[in-house]
Amino acid sequence: MSSWVNRVLVIGLGLIGGSLAKALRERSTSACIVGYDRDEKEMQTGLRLGVIDEMATGLAEEVSRADLIVLAVPVKATEAVLEQIKPHLTDGTILTDVGSTKGNVVEAAERVFGTVPNTFIPGHPIAGSEKSGVAAADSQLFNGYKVIITPLPDSDPDATAKVDQMWRYTGAEVLSMGVARHDEVLAATSHLPHMLAFSLVDTLAREEENLDIFRYAAGGFRDFTRIAGSDPTMWHDVCLANKEPLLRQLDRFTTGLARLRKAIEEGDGDMMLGTFTRAKAAREHFSRILSDTASSNNMNNENVIFRAQPGGSVAGTIRVPGDKSISHRSIMLGSLAEGITEVSGFLEGEDALATLQAFRDMGVVIEGPNQGKVRIHGVGLNGLQAPPGPIYVGNSGTTIRLLSGLLSAQQFDTELSGDESLAKRPMERVAKPLRLMGAEIETGEGGRPPLKIKGGQPLKAIHYDMPMASAQVKSCLMLAGLYADGTTSVTEPAPTRDHTERMLQGFGYEVDVDGSTVSVRNGGKLTATEIDVPADISSATFFLVAAAITPGSDLTLEHVGINPTRVGVINILKLMGADLELLNEREVGGEPVADIRIRYAQLKGIRVPEDQVPLAIDEFPALFIAAACAEGETVVTGAEELRVKESDRIQVMVDGLKALGADIEGTPDGAIIRGGELHGGEVFAHGDHRIAMSFTIAALRSSGEIKINDCANVATSFPTFIELAQEVGLNVIKGDS
Ligand code: S3P
Repeated sequence: MSSWVNRVLVIGLGLIGGSLAKALRERSTSACIVGYDRDEKEMQTGLRLGVIDEMATGLAEEVSRADLIVLAVPVKATEAVLEQIKPHLTDGTILTDVGSTKGNVVEAAERVFGTVPNTFIPGHPIAGSEKSGVAAADSQLFNGYKVIITPLPDSDPDATAKVDQMWRYTGAEVLSMGVARHDEVLAATSHLPHMLAFSLVDTLAREEENLDIFRYAAGGFRDFTRIAGSDPTMWHDVCLANKEPLLRQLDRFTTGLARLRKAIEEGDGDMMLGTFTRAKAAREHFSRILSDTASSNNMNNENVIFRAQPGGSVAGTIRVPGDKSISHRSIMLGSLAEGITEVSGFLEGEDALATLQAFRDMGVVIEGPNQGKVRIHGVGLNGLQAPPGPIYVGNSGTTIRLLSGLLSAQQFDTELSGDESLAKRPMERVAKPLRLMGAEIETGEGGRPPLKIKGGQPLKAIHYDMPMASAQVKSCLMLAGLYADGTTSVTEPAPTRDHTERMLQGFGYEVDVDGSTVSVRNGGKLTATEIDVPADISSATFFLVAAAITPGSDLTLEHVGINPTRVGVINILKLMGADLELLNEREVGGEPVADIRIRYAQLKGIRVPEDQVPLAIDEFPALFIAAACAEGETVVTGAEELRVKESDRIQVMVDGLKALGADIEGTPDGAIIRGGELHGGEVFAHGDHRIAMSFTIAALRSSGEIKINDCANVATSFPTFIELAQEVGLNVIKGDS
C-alpha cells in the first residue's frame, strides 16, 4: 500500500519488535523496515535473518528520517527512550509503542513532551511467547490475535489509521479503547490471573509438606499455575505500572473468594453450585459466542462451508434435537418458578444456550445441560438479580424479544445485544407495546438492537391488537403481563405458536384463551415442574422434505412435537401430495407429539393457503426446495414476515435457487416457484441456519455438488445436523474456507 509510510523504525529488537519488523517485511508493505537495538549483535542477527531491511547506524539520524517509530522496549524504559529521541523527531512523525500497560506510558510521554504529541498512538499487542530475542522473531506471532490501540482525545486520525494499518498487515485484529479502560481490562484478564498463579505457587511452596504437595499435584494445578513461570522482572514492572486497576481487581476477587469461603463454612450448597455452574457456563459461553480471548478466531466468523454431493436417498429412524421455542421457554419459566424444574430433551444449540446464560447472568442456578438434561433452581417471579453487564444473546431473536418483556418489569436496568444478524432485526414490534404498558425501553438505530431497558418502572396491563402474527411479540407481552397491574391481553391476527400459554399453565399459572385473544393477570406464581421437550418440528422439516423429494426414501422421525400451531409444514406437504403418516400420537407434558413416517411421492405445486403460513413460518426455506422439486407451480403469499427473519428469507432463497437453475420469482410477500431440474452451484446462507440446511437437502435432487457458504449458525438450532444428515444417507461434509 503505497500511501501507508515509507520508512518504519523499530526501536528494540526483542521478540515483539523483531516479530513486528519481520511481519511487516513479509506482508504486503513496501516500506523500508529499519531496526535499532542497544545491542549491536541483535541488530546484526536481525539483518542476517531477514527480520529487518536495514540496521540503524545512528539513532538520531534514523529518528529524523523515519515516518513511523515503534517503541518496542520494556515499559519502564519508555521515558528514557522518548527523552533520547525527542530532539530528533520531525513534525508529523508517527510514534507508537507495544507496552502492556498504557496509563504509565502516556504519563511518561507527558513528562517528556509536556503534552502528548497528537501523533503518538499507544498500542498493545496481546500476543507473546516464552521465547525472547530477535532470533525468536516470528512473523506469525500476531496473526489472528488482538491488538489494542488507545488513541487519545486529540490524536491525529491519520496517525491512528496508520498505526491501525500497521497491525492489520501483521494479520492482527485491531481494537480501539481508552487508556483507562485498557488498563482496567488488562488488570482483570491478565494481571489478576498472574497474581493468583504466583501467589498460589508461592503459598504452597512455603508449606512444610511442600515436596509432597508438588509431587501429588495433578493437571489442575499445572494448568492453573502455568503462568507462574513468567518473567518475574516483567511482572514486577507491570504491578508497579498498573497499581490502581490491579488493586481494584484484587479486591473484587478477594470479595468473591470470601463469599465462597463463607458458603463452604456454612455448607451453603446453592451458593457453591451457583458459583461453579455460572463460572463453568460463562467460560464456555465466552469462548464459544464472544470468543473474547486474545485470539480473534471466532467460530461464527469463520466461513463454515457445507459441501453436499448430488444423489442418494434418505432412510432410517432418527430423533432430531429438542424444540427451540420450548427449550427457551423452559429456562425462562423454570427460572421464574418456585422450586426446581427438571428439563429433558433440552436443545443444546447456541440460541437456547444464550437464554440459559442470560438467566445465569441474572443469578439463577442452572445445572447442565448434560445430554439434554437441565435442572433449574427457580428464584420466583421477583428473584432475578441485576446481571453484571450487558446480556449478549448471539443470534437469538426469541431470547431478545421474550426477555425484553420480562426485563421491562424488573427493578434493575439491562442492556440486550446480539450478533451481526440480530443487530439488523426489528425490535420496535416489542418496544412499542411495552412502552404502552409503561416500560422505559430504548432501541438502537432504526429500531434495532441493542435494547436498553430501565428498571423500576411500574407496568400497567393493556389490551394489544398485534399488527403481525408473531409468537415472540405475544409471548413478550405475556411475560410483561405477569408483572403488570391488571389483565394483559393480546389478540393475534392469525394463530401463532402457543408454547408460552401451554407452559405457563404447566407451571400452574392461569392463562385465559378466548378465540384469538390470550390474557394473563399479575399476582400469580409459577410452581416448578418437569418438562419433556419434544423433537423440533422445524428441525424435522429438513428431513421431511429430504425424504419427500427423493425417490426411494423412507424415513421415520421420532417424538416430534405436533402442536397444532406448528403443523403447517405437515399440512402443506400433504397438500403437495407427500406420503406422510403420523404414528403413535400422544401427549407429553402438555404438548402433543408423534412419530412421523414419510416416503417419497412425486410432489405437485400448490397455492399455499395463507392460513397455513404462520403455522409453518420457519419451514419456508425447506418448503421452497420442495416446491422447486415439485411438478408445476407453487405460489406463496402472505409471508412477508420471512423478510425479517435471521436473513431476508425470500430474497436469499430466490438468489440461491436461481444459482441452482430453478425457476423462481420473489414477490413482496412470498414467491412463485415452478418445479424443474436443479444443477449444482455455489450458494450463500447469509448466516441463516435454516437457509444452510435447506440448500443441503437440495443436493438430493441436484445434478452437481452444492457448495453452501456461511453455515456456522447451523449450531444455533441444530448442532448435530451434519451428523444426522450423513446418518440418513446424505452425502454432505463440513469444512472451513
Ligand atoms: C418463535 C417465533 C417465531 C419463529 C421463531 C421462534 C418463538 O418468530 O420464527 O423461530 O419461539 O416464539 P415470530 O414471532 O417473529 O414469528
